[in-house]
Amino acid sequence: MLILGIETSCDETAAAVVKDGFTPLSSIVSSQVDIHHPFGGVVPELASRKHIEAIVPVVHEALENAGVHASQIQGVAATQGPGLVGSLLVGFSFAKAFAYSMDLPWIGVNHLEGHINSVFLEPDPPPFPFVVLLVSGGHTAIYHVTSHTDIELMGQTRDDAAGEAFDKVSKMLGLGYPGGRVVGEMAAKGDPGKVKFKRPYLDKKEYDFSFSGIKTGVNRYIQSMGIADESQIRDIAAGFQEAVVDVLSYKLLHAARQRNCDHTAIVGGVAANTRLRDKVTDEASRIGLEIHIPSPDLCGDNAAMIASVGFHYLKRGILSDLRSDVYSRVKI
Ligand SMILES: Nc1ncnc2c1ncn2[C@@H]1O[C@H](COP(=O)(O)OP(=O)(O)OP(=O)(O)O)[C@@H](O)[C@H]1O
Ligand SMILES: [Mg+2]
Repeated sequence: MLILGIETSCDETAAAVVKDGFTPLSSIVSSQVDIHHPFGGVVPELASRKHIEAIVPVVHEALENAGVHASQIQGVAATQGPGLVGSLLVGFSFAKAFAYSMDLPWIGVNHLEGHINSVFLEPDPPPFPFVVLLVSGGHTAIYHVTSHTDIELMGQTRDDAAGEAFDKVSKMLGLGYPGGRVVGEMAAKGDPGKVKFKRPYLDKKEYDFSFSGIKTGVNRYIQSMGIADESQIRDIAAGFQEAVVDVLSYKLLHAARQRNCDHTAIVGGVAANTRLRDKVTDEASRIGLEIHIPSPDLCGDNAAMIASVGFHYLKRGILSDLRSDVYSRVKI
């Protein structure tokens, strides 16, 4: 079954064609980062307008790269939420119109289920059940996954998401927006032992997180010590990253052991972080757990993960209504 997936929840216009839920034939992601960069964050009104401009060319490119004609598509899936309402509406309305005009089944997909299912777009995906850490710009949570669509929340951040903390620390260090990747690059050249930050909730048994304290710690350090040169930026970035990665890694592996799962995974934009990938891979192999992390391209927002989830619903005959609406917030 060939599914056209569409993702416009934030500042990427994405379309993909996925075969039978697991094989991406194409995945196009058009980023708006240059438009939002001068403002230091995503401007919702600009994001919606850019999605309107980009959606048709991006879908064309996805079909072309897949070597598929629109008439061969058998189902459509689009992100329904969570995200920016104006952005979501562009992709969601496009998907409805495409499905209606081609007389195809279609479904609105939860963006977070999309991220979790991104591990199935890689060879050697985890068997069920497994425990997954979703770590992105808006979410940081641990789930127990028993099927593609049966996902139980075990714990989540009580304040900021880890990606949000990376973005804020980037601003504090004068590294601009978006911040995760550049903070990671700086951290890789710094000494993580020079500046130590607290590891909130590390001693707690449950799987909740808190990142606003680390963020405030970085701010206080900069206020009191100032930033003398680039080597200090690197050391602060490294100290911050190490604190975040320690907490994420400890909680994920602890949750997997507690649920007797031999397989774990990390998904979402922050899963592209090299230090997080390396640390969790090392620690997991030390205690005999297998870790699954999608390639960096599939960690950030993409439409292949949305098409993949759509396939699992459409296969079971679960469809969306043409009158259905998008939602800005939603849980699993
Ligand atoms: N190499 C990296 N190291 C750390 N963080 C990173 C890296 N690359 C990207 N990020 C962070 O990932 C986040 C973006 O991830 P993603 O696109 O999944 O989030 P989102 O879609 O905005 O939020 P959500 O999925 O929660 O709705 C940003 O906060 C970004 O800073
Ligand atoms: Mg996302």
